[in-house]
Amino acid sequence: MPTPRELDMNRRDLMVVAGACAAFPATVTGTRAQPAPSGKPVLSEVSFSVNGQSYQLELDTRTTLLDALREHLHLTGTKKGCDHGQCGACTVLVDGQRINSCLTLAIMNPGAEVTTIEGLGGVENLHPMQAAFVKHDGFQCGYCTPGQICSGVAVLDEIKAGVPSHVSADLTGAMAVTEAEIRERMSGNICRCGAYSNIVEAMTEVAGRRA
Ligand code: FES
Ligand code: FES
Repeated sequence: MPTPRELDMNRRDLMVVAGACAAFPATVTGTRAQPAPSGKPVLSEVSFSVNGQSYQLELDTRTTLLDALREHLHLTGTKKGCDHGQCGACTVLVDGQRINSCLTLAIMNPGAEVTTIEGLGGVENLHPMQAAFVKHDGFQCGYCTPGQICSGVAVLDEIKAGVPSHVSADLTGAMAVTEAEIRERMSGNICRCGAYSNIVEAMTEVAGRRA
C-alpha cells in the first residue's frame, strides 16, 4: 500500500506530465502558424485612371487597390475599415461598378477607370448624393460615409438598369427604388453609428430627383 508521501509524489508527477501535454499542442500550433518568409517583394507595373487622371505605378504585386489609392496616390477619402471585405468602408467605383477595394489587387485592374469619393464631387461642387447625405444627416462620425456614398450612387444605377436584388418581386420587370431595395442593396455597407434610416432618406431623395 503506497504511503501518503508516495501518493503526493505521484500526484505531483501527474500534474507535471499533464502540464507538458497541455503545452505541447500549443507549441506545435504556434510553429505551424508562423508564416513562411516572404522573401523579396515582386514588383509589377500597372496603369489605371483615378478620377480622370492617368497613373502608372510600380507596386508590390500584393498591393490592394485600397492601399494603392491611400498609400501611393494619397487619396485618403476611401477608408479602410475591416480590410476583409466585410464593412464596405473601402467601396469605390471601378468602370462604374462598386467594388470593395480591399478585396482586389491593384494589378488586377489594368486600364480601369476608378472613381473615389474625391472624384464624385468636392466642397464647391457636391455630387447630388453627397448633398443629400448632408441634407438628411446620413452620417455621424463619417468614417463609413465615402463608401456609403459610392455604393449609393452605384445602387441607384443598378436599380435603373433593372438589375434585380434578393428582395425584388419581379426579376425581369422595371425596378422601383423602395426602402426594401435600398436596405437590401446597401447591406454590405456597415454604419457603426447607425445612420441607416437617414441614408435611406438621402438615397430616396436622389432617386426621386433622377426619376
Ligand atoms: Fe474593405 Fe471593410 S475595408 S470591406
Ligand atoms: Fe459613423 Fe457610419 S457615420 S460609421
